[in-house]
Amino acid sequence: MSEKLWGGRFAKSESKSADEFNASIEFDQKMYREDIAGSRAHAAMLAKQGIISPEDAAAIDEGLAGILQDIEDGKIEFTIENEDIHMNIESILTQRIGEPGKRLHTARSRNDQVAVDFRLWTKKAVEGRLADLNRLLNSIYEIAEANKEVIMPGYTHLQRAQPVTFAYHMMAYFQMFKRDHSRFEDCLERMDLLPLGVGALAGTTYETDRRFLAEKLGFAGITENGMDSVSDRDFALEFLSDVSICMMHLSRFCEELILWSSTEFGFVEIDDAYSTGSSIMPQKKNPDMAELIRGKTGRVYGDMMTLFTIMKSLPLAYNKDMQEDKPPVFDASEQLSSCINIFADMLDTLTVNADRMATATKYGFMNATDAADYLVSKGLPFRECHAIIGELVLYCISHGKAIEELTVEQLQDFAPQFGPDVYQHIDPRACIKAKVSEGSTSFDSVNRMLGAAKEYLDKQK
Ligand code: ARG
Repeated sequence: MSEKLWGGRFAKSESKSADEFNASIEFDQKMYREDIAGSRAHAAMLAKQGIISPEDAAAIDEGLAGILQDIEDGKIEFTIENEDIHMNIESILTQRIGEPGKRLHTARSRNDQVAVDFRLWTKKAVEGRLADLNRLLNSIYEIAEANKEVIMPGYTHLQRAQPVTFAYHMMAYFQMFKRDHSRFEDCLERMDLLPLGVGALAGTTYETDRRFLAEKLGFAGITENGMDSVSDRDFALEFLSDVSICMMHLSRFCEELILWSSTEFGFVEIDDAYSTGSSIMPQKKNPDMAELIRGKTGRVYGDMMTLFTIMKSLPLAYNKDMQEDKPPVFDASEQLSSCINIFADMLDTLTVNADRMATATKYGFMNATDAADYLVSKGLPFRECHAIIGELVLYCISHGKAIEELTVEQLQDFAPQFGPDVYQHIDPRACIKAKVSEGSTSFDSVNRMLGAAKEYLDKQK
């Protein structure tokens, strides 16, 4: 007979290489807290239902509390022979307390055990990422609030398009990360159901109390179908999807900081503390943190694809393939957390170069649409105005001038409707102020956004 917890049916032991190949303890030991919490709740439930004695339950509980302490103190060495965190802890428990330890696994399978451990871990990870996001949202709000008057070119196709405020641009990111926050909240709500107590797949013959378990472990309710409970990893996929979207947002923000901190733009300066030098070029100051976040976005997408690919086409219910579900989730969660925090640090210390941005706003005909709108206000149809200003821009390009550098007489060669009041309509600040539609870049509109953001952030506290 094999020495394994499941060794009864086996005439001989697994080979050492198969043991090593099969084991997940190297990574799933991360879930020791969840595993112990799940087992303590399970033991309490078994005693409450009269399935094990109160004395056995007390011994189990005390034993598990001791193991928890010892793991935390670094006194425990897990073994490959015990395969995973579940069997490592169970076998240490039995070594320590004897027979009661052997009763713990009554009415339970590792399939529902791992399902509950992993959900508990992921729930906590989501809560952690929600806190990270709140920190980031605060940083974005602060930098926007501090730069409300700063104007800059707004881009489409990375070509200068229309003047906007820096705060408006920042608050666009605020919206993105606020959506990420609500996506995490959604996924947290959906995963908040306890899978424990369904056994291997079909339920158990014992009169268990799953609702008691749910309450003890802090779940809002219990899953409805045992087979689904042990084969479902949607909660992890959803988490990875949400992490991926959030990383995508970070990578876009990083890309802009990288561009803006180049000499060509010079819109911002990343603090020395979050930049690195070159080993050969003494003048260099590189935006490595931002680039790394951009790169790690690829890594996190890989994590997401890993689990999607593992789960693809798996028959119900549990399959060992699913043991591979944890590393990508652990990795993505950790990466997102460190990316958000380093990014927020970078934002908190960013120098905003208002003069460079204002200068850039003067060139590139970003007031062309406003010049067209001016002609519309004089009664011309918009399409016609668009064509007139197009010709005007072409003229300006070939003469090296901006629209506002032409005299009224020169402008009137293109449309007699031009009057001396045109200049006050095509000044960048005026262009910004004139955007009266809801959600626009106007100073008033951005103030309203900041007000709403403040309210949102206060509520999160
Ligand atoms: N280590 C396993 C995992 O992470 C635990 C569940 C094992 N269940 C089984 N029937 N082999 O998936």
